[in-house]
Amino acid sequence: MNSRTQVGIVGAGPAGLLLSHLLHRAGIDSVVLESRSRDDVEGTIRAGVLEQGTVDLLKATGVGERLQQEGFRHEGIYLRFDGEDHRIDFPALTNGKAVTVYAQHEVIKDLVKARIDSGGDIRFQVSSVTVHDVQSEQPSIRYRDESGTSHEISCDFVAGCDGTQGACRPSIPAGVLTAYEKIYPFGWLGILCEAPPSYDELIYALHDRGFALVSTRSPTVQRMYCQVDPADRVDNWSDDRIWKEFRLRLATADGWAPKEGRIFHKVIVGMRSFVTEPMQFGRLFLAGDAAHVVPPTGAKGLNLAVADVRLLGEALIEHYRTGRNETLDAYSATALKRIWKAQRFSWWMTSMLHRFPGGDAFQYRVQLAELEYVTGSTVAAAALAENYVGLPFQ
Ligand code: FAD
Ligand code: DHB
Repeated sequence: MNSRTQVGIVGAGPAGLLLSHLLHRAGIDSVVLESRSRDDVEGTIRAGVLEQGTVDLLKATGVGERLQQEGFRHEGIYLRFDGEDHRIDFPALTNGKAVTVYAQHEVIKDLVKARIDSGGDIRFQVSSVTVHDVQSEQPSIRYRDESGTSHEISCDFVAGCDGTQGACRPSIPAGVLTAYEKIYPFGWLGILCEAPPSYDELIYALHDRGFALVSTRSPTVQRMYCQVDPADRVDNWSDDRIWKEFRLRLATADGWAPKEGRIFHKVIVGMRSFVTEPMQFGRLFLAGDAAHVVPPTGAKGLNLAVADVRLLGEALIEHYRTGRNETLDAYSATALKRIWKAQRFSWWMTSMLHRFPGGDAFQYRVQLAELEYVTGSTVAAAALAENYVGLPFQ
């Protein structure tokens, strides 16, 4: 079956859904194609820290109501090392900015609801997505629906918002893209548990045994992470072993310990930095994880996806309103400037806060000195704060 839309969007993650929402607000049609079910998309546990600019954008475009009610504004983080806490005060260092802790799947729920309530077209559980003729003025997307029926959508533009394993980036011919990649020799074990918050703000801890992070989700659900071997499996991590490890890595001189509770979710994720350039091939534009991945230490993945589609949305709106393509033509170069800064920050936070397998005592002492410096110098603390709350949009 054949149909038509203005912008064909592959992927109903934060990038694809927000782009569809922003275009709709400007009167531009889109169709979102998603391989997973709505339940799956709305239930996948991922990131949780929203930059100031992400929060402002979601609020300004009418999808920030629940975020405002249920999200937690955090005005700082703690860096914990040598058994002591050192606070980075965001508003004091960034002219009043902060972050909000609100789970990615809650953002997804808000965006899906907003699209469906306003008659948006999201097609879940599609398969065999392929993109065609993106170097012509009339690209198309083919896919099969849940029942196996084939469809073709012709459109003016295709947005590849289909994450790391998507179909859009691999459809670009060999030789067009340059990929830059760094794989880290560790991963994160992430858990969700039923417990009250252990602390009032996030704690990023470096310990001789490795990194640990205390985050939160609600007054009754907490999110925590610790550095593990990326090849490790969650079956090797009993609840007892997890709590013992967190107690050791988070111990302070004055006897602090995390509040423990039933663990109901465990996952191990690998860590890499990845950028592909350019983020455009003809009328196919890549956004979010489809074009770049960061290690999670700086909490930038979701926020970068939002920054990309904010820019891409503006560029497409300019095209439809004025016929001008300057912003669209500059999309990749403009987006990549900010993306590389976020890559640098994520790499730096990761390098400062993890134990490197085989790393010697010298490297560890330098990491501790860097933490001392960052927390002891207002200028260095401001640089961390400015990046953590989010650099200005492009
Ligand atoms: P995605 O959210 O990946 O969305 C892409 C969508 O496209 C998916 O719904 C997918 O099902 C769909 N799709 C893929 N292929 C196809 C296809 N062929 N056809 C149709 N649809 C397709 N970031 C942090 O900052 N902190 C974290 O703690 C953190 N934890 C993470 C944990 C995990 C397990 C993962 C995978 C990522 C994590 N991230 C984290 C990164 C962050 O979640 C991502 O950066 C963010 O989801 C990017 O949004 P996106 O819309 O670009 O891609
Ligand atoms: C969370 C994830 C991150 O990657 C991070 O740096 C801080 C918090 C979280 O899921 O809450």
